[in-house]
Amino acid sequence: MAPAGSRREVVLGVSGGIAAYKAVEVLRQLTESGHGVTVVPTESALRFVGEPTWAALSGRPVASDVFAAAHEVPHVRLGRAADLVLVVPATADLLARAVVGRADDLLTSTLLTATCPQVFAPAMHTEMWEHPATRANVATLRERGGLVIEPASGRLTGADSGPGRLPDPLEIAAIARSVLDRSLAAKDALSWDDLAGRHVVVSAGGTREPLDPVRFLGNRSTGRQGYAIARAAAMRGARVTLVSANVELPEVAGVSIVRVETASELEAAVVAAAQDCDAVVMTAAVADFRPLQHQTTKIKKIDDADPEPLKLTRNPDVLAGLVESRESAGAQVRRPVIVGFAAETDDVLRHGREKLRRKGCDLLVVNEVGEGRGFAVDHNTAVVLSADGAEVAITDVSKDLLAHQLWDLINERFVH
Ligand code: CTP
Repeated sequence: MAPAGSRREVVLGVSGGIAAYKAVEVLRQLTESGHGVTVVPTESALRFVGEPTWAALSGRPVASDVFAAAHEVPHVRLGRAADLVLVVPATADLLARAVVGRADDLLTSTLLTATCPQVFAPAMHTEMWEHPATRANVATLRERGGLVIEPASGRLTGADSGPGRLPDPLEIAAIARSVLDRSLAAKDALSWDDLAGRHVVVSAGGTREPLDPVRFLGNRSTGRQGYAIARAAAMRGARVTLVSANVELPEVAGVSIVRVETASELEAAVVAAAQDCDAVVMTAAVADFRPLQHQTTKIKKIDDADPEPLKLTRNPDVLAGLVESRESAGAQVRRPVIVGFAAETDDVLRHGREKLRRKGCDLLVVNEVGEGRGFAVDHNTAVVLSADGAEVAITDVSKDLLAHQLWDLINERFVH
């Protein structure tokens, strides 16, 4: 549930595509987060999913007709009350109607009256998505400040496959929450393309160092903070490479994922992606040591014998290595902003400042973990330490909002 005071009003617009059935799950996610949701389906959307489904799951009457309850002037009322208008799925036709400012049904009329953030989750066949008309419509909506989610690639209706698939409903709901969190905290008008033209690399999750074919040394990192950081960058227009170590979360919309298991694999993937990037954010919990020997067959217990002590060897320090190669590359190449994370259990700031010096990165996000803090929780408190001495406290915010605030700090450090 959303914390008290953070219940928001969402208009969920549904246009007429087969992916309308997936908007049902987006609705459930948003109502379960405690938000009030009014569903505004187009006439053709109602041919895919009927009015009773939307009414039952939102707990509200379904608004689809400008002339129903005309005395309430519904398109103005809905548009004014909304904190977010989210269109799932957005068909090629809906995008086109939004671009030309048509007001031929309640959803398009609401898009014209709403001044809150507007998010479109397109879903259509690849040919329609790649058509110059749709490309131009998407560009126009983005120029006007709308957030258009990149569709996923994969199986479409029928036998074909390619870009145009609706992203995972859980991911669309996560984007909606991220927009709400950022816009609720913002004092000024927000840009959703301030990272356009940037390539950023984010590592997330926790590495696993195999002992034998069935056992490994690992850690409790869930990857949620790293995924929120990748999501926030993609939402703001960056090209994102997400190096993901053993994370069980839905794919982040619009990012390229490279899956790794061990620290060495993570190092290779991060170094390769960082060749032409503007920022690297290392949220992954990287094992400092790995077993000296990786047995190729399962280690057996031998009755009555004591186990052999585990012999470990050092893993590369990926973050320190990135800083070192940046310094040795000199001024002529692109110099990425390098950001580390540190989870500490005690004397957090002292350890953080010392770690920032030791690693040489530009920013270090330090948070306290243990006893319900940090790992596997939704809210996070952190201090961002900067190599120039600045310290910014980010207190009790969602992982999504922390991600946006971190990108604000990184964006200030880009050479514009
Ligand atoms: N990191 C890394 N490679 C490693 C270990 C850590 O790149 N082998 C990165 C992490 O991704 C993180 C930062 O370094 O961004 C700090 O990680 P942490 O484990 O706190 O640092 P350590 O140097 O291992 O310090 P500690 O002795 O506290 O474990």
